[in-house]
Amino acid sequence: MGNESSTVVDDSTPPSVLEARTLEGVATYIKERSVQRVVVMVGAGISTSAGIPDFRSPDTGIYSNLAHLDLTDPEDVFDISFFRENPRPFYALARELAPGQFRPTIAHSFIKLLYDKGLLMKHFSQNIDCLERLAGLPGDMIVEAHGSFATQHCIDCKAEYPEDRMKAAIAKGEVPYCLKCPGLVKPDIVFFGEALPADFFENRDLPGQADLCIVMGTSLTVQPFASLPGLVGEGVPRVLINMERVGGLGSRPDDVVVLGDCDTGVRKLARALGWGQDLEELWESTKPEEVQEQGPPRTREEKLQDEVDRLTEEVDRTLGISTAYEQRVRQHLDRQATDKAKAAGETEGVGGLGHVFPHLARASEER
Ligand code: APR
Repeated sequence: MGNESSTVVDDSTPPSVLEARTLEGVATYIKERSVQRVVVMVGAGISTSAGIPDFRSPDTGIYSNLAHLDLTDPEDVFDISFFRENPRPFYALARELAPGQFRPTIAHSFIKLLYDKGLLMKHFSQNIDCLERLAGLPGDMIVEAHGSFATQHCIDCKAEYPEDRMKAAIAKGEVPYCLKCPGLVKPDIVFFGEALPADFFENRDLPGQADLCIVMGTSLTVQPFASLPGLVGEGVPRVLINMERVGGLGSRPDDVVVLGDCDTGVRKLARALGWGQDLEELWESTKPEEVQEQGPPRTREEKLQDEVDRLTEEVDRTLGISTAYEQRVRQHLDRQATDKAKAAGETEGVGGLGHVFPHLARASEER
């Protein structure tokens, strides 16, 4: 991946730039070198302590918990070809992932603190939860490499779709359809099989200009994002704060690998920088105004029963949707047929969508 050196140095190899391969060594480097071009690269692991599962952690990751959606491959839930055939699993999951229910973690606040202190050059995120924005990071500082729930469009005619309608559909676990054509609507999340946003490619040169790289909460398994840390210049310290060693981090003399949870790691780095209080205050400011009084925590069985009830309701509603959808397409075909017949003075027939929905075209001929 990237331009990693072939030989992996172990953590005992003496650094060439840092005084020590520790967070304290990184803090000294930041202060003594007046670091001000930090790139941060994150994945789902920085949001797990907010209550959003990551994707690949065994047992707790999303991909280990989609059995109820009986997908042959869990990643299908984010695959565009699969979505075209069956959007329901995504919308069943979207209700649990959609922003608005979660608070930023202290790791998000640490990134905002880097910005406030004038050190952040760019933040690259794979996350779709918008928690960086909620933590106060300005949009132009964030590269949302895998898109986000912030906007939504039709996957066919690309027409924008109203945010309030999308929120309502997600809240009900319903599948929204385009207002301009019979196409499906999807949040602007990058699915497998879709191109990353231009913003990612326009900023890919920044890691090569950085004077410090911090990678947090990602398995670095999905390209091209996973290639970013390899683009950081030789001799520039790279810090990994993650539950597990990933992506060749640790292979360079000035790599610092901190195995553990992100929140603990950023607190330790902030304290070493003398920013401990600033970080706690900044994170405190992300607390929702009135912290809702939660009822007694629900047992796993209760949560599972809720899920079963919800999905049963969901299947009933979806059956209803497919009938409604068929009616909409039939009306669309008839409208097209009438317009066409009027234009050509012909008798009634099937419109241009007949090849897409042959069974409806036949039904229209039989009428
Ligand atoms: N602290 C530190 N590390 C954590 C924490 C935590 N609290 N929680 C999880 N992790 C680590 C896991 O050990 C794992 O290495 O974060 C990583 C999460 O990896 P993934 O679940 O693969 O998530 P991510 O890297 O964001 O996935 C990349 O895959 O499915 C696609 O588009 C999706 O953007 C996603 C991409």
